[in-house]
Amino acid sequence: MTLVHRVLHPSPITSLAEYVERGGGKGIETASRLRPQRIIALVRASGLRGRGGAGYSTGRKWQTVARNRSPVEPSTVVVNGAEGEPGTFKDRTILRTNPYQVIEGALIAARAVGADLLIIALKRSFEREVARVRAAVDEITAAGWSRGIQIEIFEGPDEYLYGEESALLETIEGGYPFPRVSATFRRGVFKLSVEEAEAEHDGIRIGSSEVHRTTSAAAAHVAPALVNNIETMANIPRIVARGPSWFRTVGTKRAPGTLVCTVTGSTRVQGVGEVRIGTSLREVIEAIGGGPRPGRRVKAVMSGVANPVIPGSLLDTPVSYEGLAGIGSGLGSSGFLVFDDTVDMVAVAAGIARFLGIESCGQCVPCKQDGLVLADILAKVCRSEATDHDLAMIRRRLVTVTDRSRCYLATQQQNAVGSIIERFPEEFAAHVARTAPPTEPMLVAELVDIVDGVAVLDERHRHKLPDWSYDAVYSGKVPAESLPGTPAPWRT
Ligand SMILES: Cc1cc2nc3c(=O)[nH]c(=O)nc-3n(C[C@H](O)[C@H](O)[C@H](O)COP(=O)(O)O)c2cc1C
Ligand code: SF4
Repeated sequence: MTLVHRVLHPSPITSLAEYVERGGGKGIETASRLRPQRIIALVRASGLRGRGGAGYSTGRKWQTVARNRSPVEPSTVVVNGAEGEPGTFKDRTILRTNPYQVIEGALIAARAVGADLLIIALKRSFEREVARVRAAVDEITAAGWSRGIQIEIFEGPDEYLYGEESALLETIEGGYPFPRVSATFRRGVFKLSVEEAEAEHDGIRIGSSEVHRTTSAAAAHVAPALVNNIETMANIPRIVARGPSWFRTVGTKRAPGTLVCTVTGSTRVQGVGEVRIGTSLREVIEAIGGGPRPGRRVKAVMSGVANPVIPGSLLDTPVSYEGLAGIGSGLGSSGFLVFDDTVDMVAVAAGIARFLGIESCGQCVPCKQDGLVLADILAKVCRSEATDHDLAMIRRRLVTVTDRSRCYLATQQQNAVGSIIERFPEEFAAHVARTAPPTEPMLVAELVDIVDGVAVLDERHRHKLPDWSYDAVYSGKVPAESLPGTPAPWRT
């Protein structure tokens, strides 16, 4: 059996009572008897790595947040439920199926790092998940599981960068999703209200670029935040209840446990399923996507738009951090975009460049400017109107796009687009030689849903402008210049 059910239940759990009946709640019960350091030690020993994309050790992250706690203000735990990586729908599927396990894990995390506030960060457009989580929080609070920890649900914007952890905190504070320089374990969420902050420290305001001017007196109030992905949190209850050795019974030595993978693109069906870490990519595509469509073969696979492309010849690679790194790619948030032999890889590269160019916030000039230039030239290559000079320009911009970049988005351009050019040079050459038929950039966008085995992409992205508006005419500005003065809808 390729598919397993550790964090993704085969059928939805409809109430807290049903969750408890099926063994839920043992993690928080065990944690209530343990000292915070002991809980952190268990998570460290389990070898759990973050499932949001970077794969950082969860126990080590908890340890860092605990060590950096503020002397005056308790820390905050933020569950990252932004899920915006193209080709990924696992977090929303977990929430639809069993939100209780995620909240239980996050409450355990709050106890471990000394937090008094738990924020579950979703998107306003995730209406179904927001309703499900709200109901689950009400049940859990009524059952007394929260034990003095306040639980809030934050409904953020659709922007891709909202999922970047420091941008997530910035948005929760009422700003726009612009990544910060400071790490989340140093500067978490400012908890005082604007009035309280102003009363205590003249002139301090919450939100956007102003937060970077927080005085050192106010900074003492900004305790660290622990940010973890939905799936990461869903793994916690059983690690605490059953122990690290149980957790390590599946997966690899360096990456124990399971992965909830999304498979979309050129497969028979599209969907989400949980596999043991180390299962081959071919098996993942077969088990979740039913394999390639009849008569077709897989030409390439991408794990979201964060990592280099995986050629179809390497499908026997184990799906693990080390397995995919070993072939020069990466696991990301295990959302696999599958492309068969009918797909034009130039259209894929152009679609990715456009998505990242649009979603860049523009705080770092090369990321936004080079990103948009890359998208433009690649669209020209798609139309079979480009020359060798254009290809040379693409290569140059791929080098400079990451200059002085504050977050990982610029590197994603380099990784994803650069690797497609490297792996499929003949397809670019064919467009330049006018032997390949003109095509459009592929729509690369967030998944809105997966309905009856069919993935639904956010079609609105086709019309999104580089200033993040959907206006008829582009303002010519980047979000970092145009948005800070305008009120954010999520600022209350
Ligand atoms: C551009 C960008 C978008 C991201 N989007 C998400 C997201 O939607 N959900 C998520 O959990 N992590 C996302 N991440 C990763 C987070 O920054 C962070 O690493 C993660 O939430 C940490 O949780 P983990 O340690 O449990 O994986 C994104 C990162 C970048 C650079
Ligand atoms: S690297 Fe790009 S997306 Fe990240 S902060 Fe800079 S401009 Fe914004």
